[in-house]
Amino acid sequence: MTETIDIKVTRIKESKLPGVDFDNIPFGRIYTDHMFMADYIDGKWQNFEILPYGPLELDPATTTLHYAQSIFEGLKAYKSESGETLVFRPFANFERLNKSAERMCIPEVPKELYEQGMKALLEIDNDWIPEEVGKSLYIRPFVFGTDDFIGIRPSDNYKFMIITCPVGSYYAEPVSVKIETHYTRAAKGGVGYAKTAGNYAASLYPAKLAAQEGYQQLIWTDGQDHKYIEESGTMNIMFRIDDTLITPHTGDSVLPGITRDSVLKLARDWGYKVEERKISVDEVVKAAQEGRIQEAFGTGTAATIAHIKKIGYEGADYELPPIKEREWSNKFLKELDMIKYGQAEDKFGWNYKL
Ligand code: COI
Repeated sequence: MTETIDIKVTRIKESKLPGVDFDNIPFGRIYTDHMFMADYIDGKWQNFEILPYGPLELDPATTTLHYAQSIFEGLKAYKSESGETLVFRPFANFERLNKSAERMCIPEVPKELYEQGMKALLEIDNDWIPEEVGKSLYIRPFVFGTDDFIGIRPSDNYKFMIITCPVGSYYAEPVSVKIETHYTRAAKGGVGYAKTAGNYAASLYPAKLAAQEGYQQLIWTDGQDHKYIEESGTMNIMFRIDDTLITPHTGDSVLPGITRDSVLKLARDWGYKVEERKISVDEVVKAAQEGRIQEAFGTGTAATIAHIKKIGYEGADYELPPIKEREWSNKFLKELDMIKYGQAEDKFGWNYKL
């Protein structure tokens, strides 16, 4: 039986909601009225609290600020036509959060804490969930070490928090990506599969260099030889080549994306030919040169299905087919949206109703 946790609630005096322009929401900049917080002290989770969204007071020696003992998740809540709140696959994120926790020596987050904290926060800030298809409430659970200690060891104390923000699309346009063959995102035996802060910090400089050349994202390759495609940093990557959906398998250097998994399940269900395997840079470049890449796209919670319009490699750019001709990725996007907004049968049981 699930234990009920006791959450102290302090409501905001005046909601910020009337000041929000839902027609122009920048991704990840506008936060709802409240946040959820819990502390891990003396070996147990306690102090469950919903309070007005606002800054935290942290000791300058807080271990996370120095050594990045920090993990997070990203998932979304949607409003159905009938006004129900639907959260997409929250327990898949829960499982991944705790896999990241294990790798980063962070204590496990109990299911009741994750579920009831999120539920209570979504109930109190329910009016913030956009109603329009294409918009949603992004949910960001995260855990970080809070010891004020200069030295390398796991923190004894942690905070688990959930913040939320209304969002539209992460990429407003199809993206141009560059195959990265110098810098490395993740190494075998490293933390690439964990959703941990440092993975993203390490990606900033190579991404900045690529942006100077006009690319919005990188396609990361394996850390050893830079011969095999891995992921795209903000998303997993998929190709439709010769009518086969091909995506790198995840292993320990690629984030096991939940949108990735959802697309693969739909593709298999629809009878598409699917291959999760090693995919070499040579194979992708050759297919691009021969015009055999029918579609390429990223998958992610923030990115949803992000069409890739151009792939850059060693100074050459390969333009991919027009977006409107991309039957498979457009169909994945449509079907996922229909399920998330409660307009299609949820045959895999992905939606969690509040
Ligand atoms: C997500 O897709 O939820 C992420 O955390 C990626 C980030 C670019 C927002």
